[in-house]
Amino acid sequence: MELIKVIEQHAPFVALIQLNRPKELNAINRQLMEELRDTLLHLDKNDNVRVIILTGNDQAFAAGADIKQMADKSAIDMVMVDQFSTWDQIRKTKKPIIAAVSGFALGGGCELAMTCDMIIASETAKFGQPEIKLGTIPGAGGTQRLTKAIGKVKAMELILTGRFISAEEALSDGLVNKVVPIEMYLFEATQLAKEIAQMSPVAVQLAKEAVNRSFETVLDEGLAFERKNFYLTFASEDQKEGMKAFIEKRKPEYKGK
Ligand code: HXC
Repeated sequence: MELIKVIEQHAPFVALIQLNRPKELNAINRQLMEELRDTLLHLDKNDNVRVIILTGNDQAFAAGADIKQMADKSAIDMVMVDQFSTWDQIRKTKKPIIAAVSGFALGGGCELAMTCDMIIASETAKFGQPEIKLGTIPGAGGTQRLTKAIGKVKAMELILTGRFISAEEALSDGLVNKVVPIEMYLFEATQLAKEIAQMSPVAVQLAKEAVNRSFETVLDEGLAFERKNFYLTFASEDQKEGMKAFIEKRKPEYKGK
């Protein structure tokens, strides 16, 4: 089964990518990320595409990395598989990517939205980094990008408590560009994409590169640090317990080991 759907000409010069694991609330497994990486590589080379929209469905943009796929992994498995190498393609994509978010954008889902260049949210969107409740930490940029987006004290609170924030709170925190009623989020993202698609693709690419450069030199270091610490949590009993408890639908009991 294909875990993403692609419409190359969703609007003139605008491509649409839809995450397609609805039953699992678009939980991000390796196959989905590999398909996303390949699609982005392909669209980046297509002259008929100038802007890319990434979306999920009304219920979920993505509820995080696939806990069932990760639960039993050792720290060494995590380092060797290095699932995040597929994530690097998102930020290497030269064309702008707009995340159109409705419902859950949690953990890896929130990180995926933040890796995009702009975020249009529906009123139902919920953002959060709940990894701490699973005995682990964000691993695909959450500690870095959330902090840069909403500031240290608020990011610290959300990452240490795992609390979700509403679309309205995300807007006032500066995490998203705009919040619209649920029937409008894809339309609104498409309007924004069409506006950008009318500009010089060369200037758009160079402008995107320059904006990203404003924080990426230090981001690189931060991402590498976070990635190692995320993998390291897989050496703890608490991560095993946290993920097992999620799968067994019960409360985790942490021992600090
Ligand atoms: C695997 C997931 C999942 C996930 C949901 N599902 N999120 N499966 N990985 N991240 C599955 C559920 O197991 C369930 O399948 C189905 O999707 C519907 O979910 P429910 O829990 O029944 O729905 P609901 O009661 O509405 O609750 C929604 C929810 C909850 C609040 C979003 O599902 C939830 O807390 N999900 C986990 C969120 C999370 O912790 N994300 C961070 C993951 S770690 P079954 O078959 O059981 O019915 C992470 C690390 C990032 O992202 C590292 C970098 C990539």
